Amino acid sequence: MRLENKIALVTGGGSGIGEASSELFAAEGAAVGVCDLNPATAEAVAERIRAAGGRAIGLQADVTDRADVERVVAAVVREFGGLHILVNSAGVSDRGAPVDYNEDQRWQWVMDINVKGTLLPSRVAVEAMRRSGGGSIINLSSIYGLVGRPEWLGDGFSAYAHSKGAVLQITRDLAVKSAHEGIRVNALCPGFVHTNLTAGLQDNPETLRQLEEAHPMGRLGQPREIANCALFLASDESSFVTGAALSVDGGYTAQ
Ligand SMILES: NC(=O)c1ccc[n+]([C@@H]2O[C@H](COP(=O)([O-])OP(=O)(O)OC[C@H]3O[C@@H](n4cnc5c(N)ncnc54)[C@H](O)[C@@H]3O)[C@@H](O)[C@H]2O)c1
Repeated sequence: MRLENKIALVTGGGSGIGEASSELFAAEGAAVGVCDLNPATAEAVAERIRAAGGRAIGLQADVTDRADVERVVAAVVREFGGLHILVNSAGVSDRGAPVDYNEDQRWQWVMDINVKGTLLPSRVAVEAMRRSGGGSIINLSSIYGLVGRPEWLGDGFSAYAHSKGAVLQITRDLAVKSAHEGIRVNALCPGFVHTNLTAGLQDNPETLRQLEEAHPMGRLGQPREIANCALFLASDESSFVTGAALSVDGGYTAQ
């Protein structure tokens, strides 16, 4: 068991990469707070973990709301006795914004959830990790935190890539400040992954083909393939790794 006696909180844990990470961490021995904006999906994932013999609780929170975030961190600490691992997987793309938003509102909506929604849980979790003797924070950036989007995917003005660049810089800055406290902070930069976030793109067979061809491996990733890398960063196997951005992208950014 690679996460024996570890306690984790996963935001966006009700779906996709957060869901796969919650299940994998629990299977590796961690107690997991599965947190999502959607309480039903968070609870369903936690219930599945418990049914498989693991330890988990489902928690509802909006990651942009400080009171919500403080409440769920406190709930994990109360239930399991501390906090060692935070996965910031809650995130949105421009396509998911409310339809009546204008472009300024859409930009702000994505930045709030992807950037503030990474910073705020990290800020609150660091306090709990200090009291627990150290920890590991894993932020979900993206290939589009590293490179620009091709023209057919964005006009350069929408927020997704901007937000993921900010997540990388939060990762580095916090890693430097937290290293002496035994708190490591790293980012994953996935290519396109089969999740609800990309469902709207995958529904169009031509777009799906274009996306597959954009990755040298000729396919999209599976949530479990990202979770496997989150597990490495969460575990003591990565004990000398902090401030890193790990590409998990089928070769996308190697081109
Ligand atoms: N799927 C991909 O291709 C891909 C690629 C690169 C990076 N990422 C990043 O990985 C992370 C997870 O993406 P995914 O593909 O698993 O998406 P997903 O849509 O499957 O899951 C995201 C989860 O976040 C939750 N969420 C949204 N807003 C929230 C809020 N304000 N508070 C709390 N929870 C909230 C949603 O309810 C959902 O359950 C995101 O940050 C995303 O940007 C995804």
